[in-house]
Amino acid sequence: MHVLVTGGAGYIGSHTVLQLLEEGHEVSIVDNFSNSSPESIRRVNSLAGRSAHLRSVDLLNQQELTKIFADTQPDAVIHFAGLKAVGESVSEPLKYYRNNVTGTLNLLDAMEAVDCRTLVFSSSATVYGESTALPLIESTPRNATNPYGRTKLHIEEMLEELAASDPRWSIANLRYFNPVGAHTSGLIGEDPQGTPNNLMPYVAQVAIGRREKVHVFGGDYPTADGTGVRDYIHVLDLAAGHLAALKYLRESAGAHTWNLGTGTGSSVLEVIEAFARVSGKEVPYKIVERRSGDVAENYANAEKARLELGWKAEHGLEQMVEDMWRWQKGNPTGFGPIDAFGMTDEELDIFLNR
Ligand code: NAD
Ligand code: UFG
Repeated sequence: MHVLVTGGAGYIGSHTVLQLLEEGHEVSIVDNFSNSSPESIRRVNSLAGRSAHLRSVDLLNQQELTKIFADTQPDAVIHFAGLKAVGESVSEPLKYYRNNVTGTLNLLDAMEAVDCRTLVFSSSATVYGESTALPLIESTPRNATNPYGRTKLHIEEMLEELAASDPRWSIANLRYFNPVGAHTSGLIGEDPQGTPNNLMPYVAQVAIGRREKVHVFGGDYPTADGTGVRDYIHVLDLAAGHLAALKYLRESAGAHTWNLGTGTGSSVLEVIEAFARVSGKEVPYKIVERRSGDVAENYANAEKARLELGWKAEHGLEQMVEDMWRWQKGNPTGFGPIDAFGMTDEELDIFLNR
């Protein structure tokens, strides 16, 4: 298949692009590099031994997007592009609705124009909001509690309505739990800009000595050790879930929703301990106030994906931490600044099809 991947230079996108290339698919990436670097794709190409086509375009640029679809005529789209910082979405909600919702609308229009109606969408367990009925199953009522989560909820609803209106659409809403880890080569991984919002990259930066200590948000939750519990899932398992969903969509029309999680929760202290054990480094931490908006515990029921997609997470917490640590040690400052690629401006323009 020819798969167009929006946000393919980002964390989950780059790991998925690698698996698509390894499976023999043709891949075109559309990314505006607002939260990523083309260096990730240079490394993906070298790992795969073949190249994805990379286009530097913003989904908000409808004209350019339409042109790319006309040029590439993809068979299917995997849609990762989006902004994802919960706190920023509270202070800048319109930026999130514009980028995530309008960006998706533009994408759907561009797809329709070339009769491409197979779409895998990056949704999130955040659409379950503060639900306390664990484990979370796909039929749990949706109730997002912040603008970021509501962009995901609105897009899910929009995609369901679209599929109901026209049986030619095949759509997957994949609800990710907490993606962590990195490719086993240590060459690609998560490269958060500034202070990481999420636990694992923060812990990794403490272990490597870039930050002093982990702030554990709340020690008085009704969990075994009092700290928050989440369903961490290895990014390689997550990427494999996208390929499984694509395969399913080739034979099934309509909108489908799957949780992608392991079904097992780990606490903040368990994550810190695993990191200290694997890295052999001290990971100092301090228990502070709860973070507003956090739930005590959240983990998936991933049976639907197992039964329908034949997909199941294979990696445990130890493996996630080992791979994350290899990436962190080998790339202490992530992919580095754009001018550090060893490419001239001219070479970069050619690489990005500018
Ligand atoms: P990421 O920021 O690493 O990747 C997103 C990519 O999209 C980046 O390369 C960014 O430059 C690009 N992008 C953003 N807006 C764009 C636009 N308007 N036009 C073109 N490109 C644009 O994030 P990620 O962790 O890989 O997440 C991928 C998707 O999965 C996102 O939609 C995110 O909301 C969703 N998700 C992530 C998590 C998580 O914890 N990482 C959890 C649940 C869902
Ligand atoms: N935590 C800390 N200290 C930190 C960061 C996090 O103690 O510095 C705790 C949180 O309180 C929580 C756990 O670690 O108990 C995990 O927090 P993350 O920020 O890593 O992840 P969240 O579960 O809050 O949210 C993530 C993504 C969302 C996505 C959601 C899906 O950030 O975008 O998973 O479940 F929607």
